[in-house]
This record gives sequence, C-alpha cells and structure tokens, in this order.
Amino acid sequence: MLSAYSVLGHDLGELKKVSREPSSLIHTVQRTTLLLRKYVIRMKRTTGFLCLALAGLCATVAMSSNAPVTAGYAPRTSPVDGEVVPVEDSMHEFMEYVFQPTYLRLKQSMAAAPADNKGWKAVKSDALILAESCNLLYGRAPKEHGEDWVKHATASKEHGAKLYGAAKAKDFEAATGAWKTMLDSCNACHKQFENGKHILQP
Ligand code: HEC
Repeated sequence: MLSAYSVLGHDLGELKKVSREPSSLIHTVQRTTLLLRKYVIRMKRTTGFLCLALAGLCATVAMSSNAPVTAGYAPRTSPVDGEVVPVEDSMHEFMEYVFQPTYLRLKQSMAAAPADNKGWKAVKSDALILAESCNLLYGRAPKEHGEDWVKHATASKEHGAKLYGAAKAKDFEAATGAWKTMLDSCNACHKQFENGKHILQP
C-alpha cells in the first residue's frame, strides 16, 4: 500500500507540473487518462486503488481549473506587491504608441473649444491617459540624472491632471492653459534627455 501510494505520489507530482503549464484543459485531461492507465497496470492488485485514483482525478480537475488561461503569451511576473511591471521595456515604443497618438488626438481636439459633450469627453479621455501614463515613467528613470527625470514626469502628470480637471468642468480657457503648460513639461524632459528632439507644439 505504501509503495502504491509513493508511485501515485510520484505521478501526481508529474501531473501537477503538467497542469501548471499553460497547456489546455484537454491536454491535462489527456495526460490524466494516460497516467490513470499507468496506475491500472502498476496497481492491478492494490486494494484502495479506486479511492486513490478518484482522489487524484479530483485534485487534477481542481488544479486545472486554477491553471492560468494564457492566450498565446506568457505574462511576466505578477505584481504581488503593487510593483509595476512594464509590458514594453523600450522607452521609444512606449512614447511612440502610448504618448504620441494621444498627443496627436489632443492637438486636434484642443484646436477649438469642443462643441458638445462628445468633444469634451475626447479631451477628458486623452488628458487622463497622458496624466496616468506619466506615472509609468517613474520606473523608467535612467541611472544618470534620475531625479530630474522624475521631476519632469511629475510636472507633466500634474499639468495633465489639470487639463483633465478643466475638461471635466468644460472650461476651455483653463484647458488651453493646462494643455500648453503640460506640453512645456513634456518638452522639458525631451530637451534634457533627448537633446531637444521631439519638441511638441500645442
Ligand atoms: C521623463 C521624461 C519624459 C517625459 C515627462 C515625457 N517624455 Fe516623451 N519622450 C521621452 C523620451 C526619452 C523620448 C525618446 C524615446 C526614444 O525614441 O527613445 C520621448 C519621445 C516622445 C515622442 C516621440 C515619439 C516618437 O516615436 O518619435 C513623443 C510624441 C512624446 N515623447 C510625447 C510626450 C508627451 C505628449 C509627453 C507629456 C505628456 C511626454 N512625451 C513626456 C521622455 C519623456
């Protein structure tokens, strides 16, 4: 009985490994069937086999329902302590695909006072995306002059937040002021860290 249990224990360990992999439920069930067949051969004469097999099957089903569902990509470490783990490491891609399109949309929306609620919602949305995205700049500070980097990110965020607030209040004058000062803060970082490239115009 002891040896039968250790055989089962070994195979359950194997099964656990399999079900932790992001393989499909079908794969896990196929492996379970295979392993169960192995038990039948190994433990033909072992009493209590059915009980153990059933327990194993239940454990497998429970484990596979907890297995992460990953649609073709493996997420990097999960932030247990609230640590931000970037999806895209490259600062260039981050600016090009998060900041640039948002800036270009805002430039259009802010060319004239929004005519209706839909227009204000567009400003609100893009202002919030930029302001929140500035939070994601903190973890990307370079080793040299990191404090300045954080200062620029904070200034951009605060002016972005003001733009968001003005759009909420549908105050175009305040929004225009915040939009311009936000861009000054964006540009201040570009001046210092990008040798003056990417100077953005309102
Ligand atoms: C803390 C520094 C910092 C702040 C703040 C900052 N940026 Fe940038 N930005 C960069 C760096 C660095 C690059 C260059 C990335 C690269 O190409 O490697 C860049 C590049 C860009 C580019 C050019 C992207 C391209 O593909 O050519 C745009 C547009 C841009 N930023 C928009 C903004 C906007 C809008 C803000 C303000 C809301 C902002 N940035 C705030 C650091 C910053």
